[in-house]
This record gives sequence, C-alpha cells and structure tokens, in this order.
Amino acid sequence: MKTYAGRTAVITGAGSGFGLEASRIAARRGMNVVMADVQQDALDRAAVEIEGLGAKVLPFRVDVAKAAEVEALGAATMARFGAPSLVFNNAGVGAGGLVWENTLADWEWVIGVNLMGVAHGVRVFTPLMLAAAEKDAAYEGHIVNTASMAGLINAPNMGIYNVSKHAVVALSETLYQDLRLVTDQIGASVLCPFFVPTGITQSQRNRPGELAASQPTKSQLIGQAMSDRAVGRGKLTAAEVAQFVFDAVDEDRFYIYSHPHALSSVQTRLEDIVQARNPTDPFAAKPEIGAELKAALRAR
Ligand SMILES: NC(=O)c1ccc[n+]([C@@H]2O[C@H](COP(=O)([O-])OP(=O)(O)OC[C@H]3O[C@@H](n4cnc5c(N)ncnc54)[C@H](O)[C@@H]3O)[C@@H](O)[C@H]2O)c1
Repeated sequence: MKTYAGRTAVITGAGSGFGLEASRIAARRGMNVVMADVQQDALDRAAVEIEGLGAKVLPFRVDVAKAAEVEALGAATMARFGAPSLVFNNAGVGAGGLVWENTLADWEWVIGVNLMGVAHGVRVFTPLMLAAAEKDAAYEGHIVNTASMAGLINAPNMGIYNVSKHAVVALSETLYQDLRLVTDQIGASVLCPFFVPTGITQSQRNRPGELAASQPTKSQLIGQAMSDRAVGRGKLTAAEVAQFVFDAVDEDRFYIYSHPHALSSVQTRLEDIVQARNPTDPFAAKPEIGAELKAALRAR
C-alpha cells in the first residue's frame, strides 16, 4: 500500500499490545481507525488516546470468535467509513500445557479466538475490499493476520497455541495465493512474532465465562511460568513490531518476523520434514532449559 491518509484501518485486539501500537501508527499516518476488542475498559481508554492523536475512531466491542459479532463489525465499519484499506486480524490469546491435558473449553476458546477470529475477519472483510477494488481502480488494500513463530515451529507444552497459529499461517498463505488469482489491488501478510512483552501472558483476563478454565494442571502452571519469563524478558517492544507490520504493508512483504534469528528453528523443522527424520530436540541449543522442563514435569 502506498497511501494511508484518509483511508480506514480495522484493527482487532486494539486495546493492548500490537493492536494498540498499530492503532497509534495508523492514526499518525492519518487513517480512520476502527478499534475492535473484547475488553471494554481497555478499548475505551485506547480509543480516547487514539482520538487524541486526531484520528476519526470507531471503537467497537467484539468477541472475534463470534461470527455474528464480526459481521456486525463489518457492517458498522461500512456505515461509518466505507470499505477499509487495511485489516489487521490480530486479536489472540495464549494457553499452554501438555496437549492431552487441554479441556474442550480450552480448545474452543483458543481455536475460537486465534483461528476463527482470523477466519471471520477474512470472511467478512475480503469481499468488502474486493467490491471496493472493483469500483475504484485506485483502491489499494492489505490484510495482515497475526500468527506467531509458534505457527512455524512446534515447541512442546504449548500444543493448543501451536495448532491455532499453524492454522493462521496456512490460512494466510492461502489467502495470499487466492487474492493473487483475482486481484492486484489487495495484498496479504502474516505476522510471526517471537517473545515480546505485551498482555499476552494474562490472556485469561478475557476468557468468557461459558468457556471458563478448570483448575490448572501442573504442566499448565509450568507453561504459564515459562511464558511469563520468556515474554517478560523480550527486548523488542510492541511498538517496534507494529512498525514492522506497517513497513511490510508499505513494501507488500508477506512474512513479517520480529526475531529473524529464530528462523534457524524453522529451518531445522523443515529439514526434519523433508528428510523424514524425527523432530529435532527443540532444546538442543539450550539443553539446560529442556532439562529443567523435564525435571519439573516428572517431579512427583
Ligand atoms: N506478545 C508476544 O510475545 C506474541 C508472540 C507471538 C504472537 N503474538 C500474538 O499477537 C497477537 C496480539 O497479542 P499481544 O501480544 O498484543 O497481546 P495483548 O494481550 O496485549 O493484546 C491482545 C488483545 O486482544 C484482545 N482480545 C482477546 N480476546 C479477544 C476476543 N475474543 N475478541 C476480541 N479481542 C480479543 C485483548 O483484549 C487484547 O486487547 C495475538 O494474536 C498473539 O497470539 C504475541
């Protein structure tokens, strides 16, 4: 995309982390900002701040896991601003633990937000953008979906999150290819961050009552402690990651990485696949972490 001012961005998970930082950049670039989030208080605070930057803002409370709510978001966006140029399907939640210990509610919650949230965003907004492109040869659009490095590798003790993020990578790569078949006016990207300090480790704050968590198992408590530590130690800021997103949209780049050095693990995984060898020990480079995790899980 080359032009931002006067155009519209729809950003999910806009109340915190990458979504809030992306809203700040969109506002500074002169865009109207549709800020969507499930957490009303965070959304209200964020919307006031972004309006303060001079942007026209439509704050919209939405649970992205719910098809009808994302459809309502699409209708509200059209009514206020018309078809968006940038759609950032970014809302997501984290959950861990040994993969057989996740409850049905855990699966429904994480897959609902991380995968179906993105699927609903794609399903609702892409046709609106295609219609705008058809009407106006000068229209440019771009869809960015947030996956994770967990969408490209499979670290243990966080299977449910890995599954959701691999699916977002698959959805995004297919979206890119499908768009190329029908238009040159709309691009697509996938954001694959590594550990960055945000609210992601406190995702349970927005877990709906009907999918409430049961008493956490030992592996889930260990997973929470490990991700608190890894995310807390992240050196890159959410603002820098949001800037990478806009840089990629500027340049029509598909894969957006926060920590390119982590791609060596992706390479190892892909070599495992093509050489049909068993999955490499993910802790080969840092055996003390693997040993600590095994000891903690096996302790009685
Ligand atoms: N921070 C990291 O280290 C990291 C790494 C890889 C991927 N990610 C991904 O980045 C994305 C953004 O997360 P973040 O790190 O900024 O965390 P965050 O918790 O700071 O922000 C996520 C936002 O999504 C909102 N949200 C949660 N459930 C929702 C729902 N059902 N409907 C609408 N909004 C909902 C939250 O209220 C919050 O404002 C997520 O998809 C996450 O999986 C984060």
